[in-house]
Amino acid sequence: MTNLFLDALSGVAGPRPPFWFMRQAGRYLPEYREIREQASGFLDLCYSPERAARVTLQPIERFHADAAILFSDILVIPDAIGQEVGFVEGTGPVLTPVTGGADLAKLDPVRTLDHLAPVFETVRQVRAGLPDDVALIGFCGAPWTVATYMVEGGSSRDFSAIKSWAVRERAEFAVLMDILVESTTDYLIAQIEAGAQALQVFDTWAGAVPANDFDSWVIAPTALIVDGVKSARPDVPIIGFARGIGDRLEAYIRGTGVDAVGLDAAITPAEAAAKIQPICPVQGNLDPAYLMVGGAEMEEAAKEILDTLAGGPFVFNLAHGIHKDTPPAHVERLAEIVRRWVAS
Ligand code: CP3
Repeated sequence: MTNLFLDALSGVAGPRPPFWFMRQAGRYLPEYREIREQASGFLDLCYSPERAARVTLQPIERFHADAAILFSDILVIPDAIGQEVGFVEGTGPVLTPVTGGADLAKLDPVRTLDHLAPVFETVRQVRAGLPDDVALIGFCGAPWTVATYMVEGGSSRDFSAIKSWAVRERAEFAVLMDILVESTTDYLIAQIEAGAQALQVFDTWAGAVPANDFDSWVIAPTALIVDGVKSARPDVPIIGFARGIGDRLEAYIRGTGVDAVGLDAAITPAEAAAKIQPICPVQGNLDPAYLMVGGAEMEEAAKEILDTLAGGPFVFNLAHGIHKDTPPAHVERLAEIVRRWVAS
């Protein structure tokens, strides 16, 4: 059975570009909110395989995307290795911050696979419920992005706690990154064993890293994870999504060894076609604001992306996650535009 998404990631442009949307499962869907209310909290939903599998499949049933993304979160890793992680309504993630060596000593990457067994069960149930021509994507957060939440204790505006700690105590910060590399590599390989056919590494806050630390905090840890996963399962494509890195995208591709990259909204389709697509398949990059607005604005922006990038290996997606106030009808319309697109 052909799979347009896996073909695109292997460098083959098919009759039409495949698509999926970051955060395609979530609060903008009433059927998600219904199941979310049945769970006692967000992490409980992530660790309830039957419910998590259902919400993974919801956007596939509605929009017939070419790929489903496992319903979980990047912050299950700190939870698995022993940090206290909560999700507070209206606030987002709240973690007991890791601030030094004593906190690091409490973290244990060896717990990862046991703790996340329910997530692997979700992967198995989703794969069993998906048609053959829809691929299943597993994912993780990159060490830098996960570390920002661990050290800041939640979302941050300026990343001052993590940056000052990482600069002042380089060796200690490297220990945290090593723990995350080990735990995340095990986590991704186990997702593949359970049925994930491609992986995406989210480095949402890569753009906040100082240029002189980019190699050590973004490229090196991601490269270690890619190497670790590839040595176990060389056949599974890995998409790197490092937001806000601008001109360092080419260095990121070459340095990390990812098979494809997700594009943020700062690069034009023409620039991506000229500079990035000759190096590897690209995925992106409609700004989610256009999806929220819908109508002609959305259609024109989507068509420009398709006309410019769909001639080469390309996966249509957004530039970051769907906003919770997005009307599902706009998502439906966007899916239709991609599905009906023909080269002109
Ligand atoms: O459909 C999918 O994309 C799959 C599931 C998924 C979620 N989070 C579910 C989720 C994925 C791939 C993520 C990734 C994630 N999580 C990232 C990287 C991508 C990005 O969005 O930048 C980050 C930084 C996180 C951390 C995180 N999780 C935050 C900051 C928040 C709170 C903000 C918010 O949107 O509520 C979450 C919670 C979260 N993760 C929700 C969902 C559907 C909403 C929680 C709820 O339902 O109450």
